[in-house]
Parts: sequence; structure tokens; C-alpha cells
Amino acid sequence: MKIVTTIKEVREEVKQWRKEGLSVGLVPTMGYLHEGHASLIKRAVQENDRVIVSDFVNPTQFGPNEDLESYPRDLERDAKLCSDEGAALIFNPSAEEMYFPDFSTYVNMTGPSDELCGKSRPIHFRGVCTVVSKLFNIATPDRAYFGQKDAQQLAVIKRMVRDLNFDIEIVGCPIIREEDGLAKSSRNTYLSEDERKAAVILHKALEEGKALVLGGEKSTAAVIEKITSIIESEPLAKVDYVQVVSFPDITVIDTIEGDILAAVAVYIGKTRLIDNFIIEH
Ligand code: PAF
Repeated sequence: MKIVTTIKEVREEVKQWRKEGLSVGLVPTMGYLHEGHASLIKRAVQENDRVIVSDFVNPTQFGPNEDLESYPRDLERDAKLCSDEGAALIFNPSAEEMYFPDFSTYVNMTGPSDELCGKSRPIHFRGVCTVVSKLFNIATPDRAYFGQKDAQQLAVIKRMVRDLNFDIEIVGCPIIREEDGLAKSSRNTYLSEDERKAAVILHKALEEGKALVLGGEKSTAAVIEKITSIIESEPLAKVDYVQVVSFPDITVIDTIEGDILAAVAVYIGKTRLIDNFIIEH
């Protein structure tokens, strides 16, 4: 497995693979990889001849008071995981490699990016769509892999690929959880021991919400109320949002019908965690 830092090196590598008639999978990440990422890489390795993992903490998707500077980084550990899973290449560019000093072209979306995290983090999806478009243009993969923990991101990327005619299959992969149900996330490393215990409330609340929906509840307000009250019972938790929306359009709905996404963003201490469930009707 190779680690490269320039766009030119990725292009040369992919050009050679294409000459050999090989297919290419891309797993876009911000590094500090965990079992969730490992599951994406594993799937990509099964479905493609060569797999590129991009490892880049993308500055354009962080707001001014967010955790860009403190976001955890460990390339050596990431490289071991990627190599163990069978990736062929890690692309670990600098911010300067990805963005010219006078960079001024962004991919802006309306619709699926407006609600949920789009409301709490206004420039987030503009940054995600922009960097993912750039990665698609650099790596020109046949398939790209995203986790369902970021269900809105998955919907946003699928819409962008459709709208902008990227000839790339987007593969969504299931959420990987800790034993107690907490969704795996690089941000879990921020949690103190007490916060880590408290963080399980997201999954507990969502499980109760899911049981309500599966039991036939049709009112989104009732489901939101149930999930919110359980999260608020945990003293270390502060709700950013609890919402039930249509999936994959991500529009706010009053009545549960068709495919739905129930999503939460919750501060545990200073750490903002997200989790969700999808129910297909
Ligand atoms: O999900 C992430 O880690 C990031 O949003 C992504 C898709 C790698 C873009 O920076």
C-alpha cells in the first residue's frame, strides 16, 4: 500500500490501473479511522480491484467555532488499518494541495442539505459537496463508499451525483456500533469516562423511537417527543436537534408514511454526536 500526498500522484496511479483494466473504489474519510471506516474499506475491497482511501480533514466543512484544529489525526494508525483491510492507496493531501489560496468555486445544494445538520451547521454541506466533488474528479472511482451514520450526508451525496451526472455508484454502508450501542465515531475520543457512559443515551432514545414507529405510531411529533424526553433525562446531554424527515429527500413531515429517517444531534459535554435510524415502509 502506498501513501501519497499530491493530486498528481493519485492521477498517475489511477491512470496505470485503468491501463490494466482495473476497477477503482474510493472511501472518503477525515482519518482517525475506526471499525466503521474499516467496514467501508472492506466492502470497497470486495467490490473493486483497487481501493483508494482519502484521509483529509477538510477545512471547508467546519464552521468558525467548530473542532477543525482539535479534530484527531493519526496517519500511522490509519495506514495500518487501511493496509490490513487491503486498500491500495492512501491519499493524504495538505489543505494547500486541495485548495488554492484564492479558491472560489463551491458546490452548493438546496433540498436534502437544508434540514438537520444543514440547519445547525450552515456551511457544512457546501464544504462536503465541494471536497467530495474534488475527490471524485481526482480519483475518478467507479464506486464510492459512505456510512449511514451520516445518513443526511449519504442522501446529499446521492443527490449531488445524480444532479451533476457523476458516473459513480454511491454505496451506503450500515452503522457500526460499540457493544453498548454507541455509534462508532472519531469524535467519541473526545469523551471523558462519564461522558462516554452518558453518550449511550442517543442509541437508547432512538431504539425507543424506532419501537414506537414499528408499533404503528404515525405522528412525527409523538416520536420526536419520546426521543427528546429520553435524551433530556441524561444530565450530560443537550439536544441540538431531534427530527423525523422523509428519506432520502430530507423534508420535514407531520405524518409517518413512506421511507423515513429519524435523526438526532446531541451535545455530550462539548462533543456533538449524531445518530439515526431509517425505516423503509
Ligand atoms: O464523512 C466524512 O468523514 C466527511 O464528511 C467526508 C465525506 C470524508 C468529506 O470530508
